[in-house]
Amino acid sequence: MDRMGILLAGGSGTRLAPLTTAVSKQILPIYDKPMVYYPMSSLMLAGIQEVLIISTPRDLGFFKALFGDGSSLGLKIHYAEQAKPAGIAEALLIAEPYLKGRPCCLILGDNFFYGEGLPALLRQANQSASGASIFGYRVQNPTDYGVVTFDSDGSVTSIEEKPNAPKSNYAIPGLYFYDASAPTRARELQPSARGELEITDLNRSYLSQKQLKVELLGRGIAWLDTGTPQGLLEASNFVQAIEHRQGLKISCLEEIAWRMKFIDADGVRRAAAAYKNSEYGKYLLSLEENQ
Ligand code: TTP
Repeated sequence: MDRMGILLAGGSGTRLAPLTTAVSKQILPIYDKPMVYYPMSSLMLAGIQEVLIISTPRDLGFFKALFGDGSSLGLKIHYAEQAKPAGIAEALLIAEPYLKGRPCCLILGDNFFYGEGLPALLRQANQSASGASIFGYRVQNPTDYGVVTFDSDGSVTSIEEKPNAPKSNYAIPGLYFYDASAPTRARELQPSARGELEITDLNRSYLSQKQLKVELLGRGIAWLDTGTPQGLLEASNFVQAIEHRQGLKISCLEEIAWRMKFIDADGVRRAAAAYKNSEYGKYLLSLEENQ
């Protein structure tokens, strides 16, 4: 059954205030496009065409203005509110009526992935039928993240949330592939000491039945943190440097939709017409000539 994407783009964004006093961080720019384009591109590259966007009652309208029903990208997009930021695992409960027993891929709206081999990894994770697949990424500061240890065949041996004494340098990015049992498991979770339904606890539910796999993202892949002013600027600089050097855009959604055959060349031209004064629109118009 086709896997559905869940793009969780709520939260309070307190580390970015006052940038986030009036608007969700996921609407803020990373160089030439809104932050939410980047995780959306990861879902699309995995081959996912139906996505539920979850955000705050205040911000959901901005996402609707950006994506509409998704048809211009060959997608089917649904929207749902998260009344309060009560934890990442709550996304599975909110998504349950949309999933209708299907597997899903949950991605956080502030997670930026880019690099050689990433599309193949995403497509492969999308093929897994049972259990859960998470990723591991080597970082210098694992204490800020969920941390994973694993054995030689990629089976997870432990996961810990923001440990003081991490057992490895592998942080768990905000990208999770779950089988159909995820909402049922989420319903059994209790809020943590900070009052949230923790994604680490959902992953632990899979781990306790030896159904949790980890795939390592190598050093050729960038996983950037965009939740602080410095992270936001670094991500913008990263995108600007690569786009300027190559003349190719990172996470241009219409381009990905076209290359994935979700839309045809006419669809790209229609999108380009809406952006005809921007570099983004000109880039879309040049795609067919430069492929
Ligand atoms: P965080 O970065 O943990 O939290 P935040 O976005 O509220 O920011 P800050 O720490 O600066 O206050 O959230 C990670 C991602 O998950 C982010 O994209 C927001 C999203 N999120 C929700 O949508 N709902 C939630 O309940 C939580 C906890 C996070």
